[in-house]
Amino acid sequence: MKLMFSILFHLLLYCAAQAAGVHILSGTDVTTDGVIETELDSTVSLVCQNDSIYNPQDGEELVWLRNGEVVSLKDENKKVRSSVCVTPIIHEDNGAIFTCHLSTNTTVTASVTLNVTYPPQLSGSEDVSVEEEAELVLLCDIWANPPVSSVSWTLNGSEVDLLAGGFTVTTDGFTSTLSANKAEKEFHEGTYQCLANSPKYGEKKKLFHVTLTGKTIKFPLYPMITGLVVVCLTAILAIASRWKRIVKCCTK
Ligand SMILES: *[C@@H]1O[C@H](CO)[C@@H](O)[C@H](O)[C@H]1NC(C)=O
Ligand SMILES: *[C@@H]1O[C@H](CO)[C@@H](O)[C@H](O)[C@H]1NC(C)=O
Ligand SMILES: *[C@@H]1O[C@H](CO)[C@@H](O)[C@H](O)[C@H]1NC(C)=O
Repeated sequence: MKLMFSILFHLLLYCAAQAAGVHILSGTDVTTDGVIETELDSTVSLVCQNDSIYNPQDGEELVWLRNGEVVSLKDENKKVRSSVCVTPIIHEDNGAIFTCHLSTNTTVTASVTLNVTYPPQLSGSEDVSVEEEAELVLLCDIWANPPVSSVSWTLNGSEVDLLAGGFTVTTDGFTSTLSANKAEKEFHEGTYQCLANSPKYGEKKKLFHVTLTGKTIKFPLYPMITGLVVVCLTAILAIASRWKRIVKCCTK
């Protein structure tokens, strides 16, 4: 109720100050530069208000656009006040621009931009088993808005020793990757932690329990079969040609 009055009050102030215009109201706070901050899976409702509320022109309707594309509205939702509801908020809504204008004069317009924030998807733990001498690769999903300010990797509680373990860490806006070319029990087994720092959501982390398994010796089966066939054929041919000679010898 209090909110309603406050909105009405601001509305009246606005109407008094503005002759011809539209403006956008939202249940969520709008910054002075027209940005609405919201979170994934939440709901944003926007109301466009025609400022000439007491004397709208004939046939004057409100039109909503999302990123320049017309949002379809019911007829009763086009007069004087028009509301759109965005629910649930998804990643693609980040940066989406909602514009409202008069059907009779597109220069009478107002718009807001959505800023959808989300934390990096890091939690829990994962068991990883790597064969000895194989490549060890651990991936951390750090995609977030606002972007994470730092990412760090630890092994058994202390910072990963890049040199000793032959580790490489690469980080872009989406993923942080820790890898080692040749996994060895002595250097690479243990509990890893990927920790990302979000300016808005704080620390988020994920654990990886890495165990090394003995090397299984893989026989290159197909090359081996062809190899055997070649060996057998050569042997048969060799015996065959020798047989001729042996036979020749005997008949001499
Ligand atoms: C549209 O609105 C603007 C701003 O109020 C006004 O200056 C302009 O004359 C209007 N155009 C028409 C075609 O009514
Ligand atoms: C969105 O909101 C976050 C958190 O307040 C802020 O850090 C970021 O700069 C905002 N982004 C835009 C484009 O306004
Ligand atoms: C990490 O700790 C585990 C368990 O205590 C141990 O088996 C492993 O060798 C340690 N890893 C390293 C690289 O020190």
